[in-house]
Amino acid sequence: MLKLTEAAPTAGLALSWRDFITLPFLQKSRVTLEEKLASFIGLDEAQVECSGTAALVVALEALKMLSDRQQVVISAYTCPWVALAVIRANLTPVLADSRPGHFDYCQKSLKSLVNHQTLAVVHTHLAGRVGEVEKTIGVAKSEGAFVIEDAAQSLGARLHNKSVGTFGDIGFYSLGVGKGLTIFAGGVVVSKNLKIREALHLVGENLPHNYLLESRRLFELIAYYFLYRPVGMGLAFGRHLRNKLKRGDLIQAVGDDCSFNFPVHKVGTWRKKIGASAADRLPSFLEKTTKLSEKRLAQLSKIKGVSVVLDAEGGAGVWPFFIVQMESEVLRNEVLGHLWNKRLGVGRLFIHALKDYDYLAPYFMDSKIPNAQAFASRTFIITNCIWLSERDFARICDVISEQVAHV
Ligand SMILES: Cc1ncc(COP(=O)(O)O)c(C=O)c1O
Repeated sequence: MLKLTEAAPTAGLALSWRDFITLPFLQKSRVTLEEKLASFIGLDEAQVECSGTAALVVALEALKMLSDRQQVVISAYTCPWVALAVIRANLTPVLADSRPGHFDYCQKSLKSLVNHQTLAVVHTHLAGRVGEVEKTIGVAKSEGAFVIEDAAQSLGARLHNKSVGTFGDIGFYSLGVGKGLTIFAGGVVVSKNLKIREALHLVGENLPHNYLLESRRLFELIAYYFLYRPVGMGLAFGRHLRNKLKRGDLIQAVGDDCSFNFPVHKVGTWRKKIGASAADRLPSFLEKTTKLSEKRLAQLSKIKGVSVVLDAEGGAGVWPFFIVQMESEVLRNEVLGHLWNKRLGVGRLFIHALKDYDYLAPYFMDSKIPNAQAFASRTFIITNCIWLSERDFARICDVISEQVAHV
């Protein structure tokens, strides 16, 4: 039967037409996006940038004002934009391997790479999951390095009842499309430290405006309002995905075709107002997706030979999607062969560990990252999209079970 609907690859907060009513007297409140985010994260201030990547560039430029060190340690399995941001800030990215079966750092690898040249260690909370940031802070501080928490995919996740992103010296989040709260392309950077905050302000204030790109983003945000729904997803996302899969271009299929030439500019007032209005619905949306995740996790946990990446101890993450790990690459590929192009929100996160992207390989020739490479080869993701039906989720679980039994 022809299926027109499509699950979104991640659980994102849909916009309401009311979010677009930005005339002051029609707005429920005049609290800014920055103020709402700061209060949601539990800090005095939050700074909005044009992407998570731009937020990281701003963070690194701010730290450069406070230290002459040149190296930034990053996870070997993370978003390629992280490496590009470090390179854009004229710093040297250094890859630390993950621990087996996880994206979190291997402590041995991390300790061997952090030294007096390390400006910062970027600690990632991937896929809404809370990583072991306290261990990272211990290693970084022993060498006088800063810690930047990459919570691009984890706005709303908490560790010991405090927001992730507030444990290190700086935290950043993405407001990109597909994230919980989105202004189509956006980011947030925060710090508890007053001196760092002053440096962040200074860098942020000196960014240029880009009115043309800002207009395009506003248009894209309006398109997101219309298309972020079951039928719209097929048009906005599914067609492109299936096209790329047919051609075998996995990097483009998942959007890992990142470019060194990315924009860093100020965000316009309209998009911030739309985001501020939508932000009011974020807590209840996250509650809803967490509830949904409990049921879905229980279903996944019944399948033998499959593990789902969970939070570090004391963590209560958010659930945009699930990272599922299989016992072998062959099995993972069999599952994807049956599900990736089926409109069910099953796919891959990042195709490679960072050194295996052609455009990043020259920067990481000597990096040894076997665990991150194994993680990339054995994992896939399942959406926690709210409109994916119970029946469809059960179908996904059945296909995985069949493949485990078969292979
Ligand atoms: C872990 C991680 N860090 C950084 C980024 C960059 O964020 P953005 O896409 O908003 O630039 C992403 C993007 O999804 C990400 O997943």
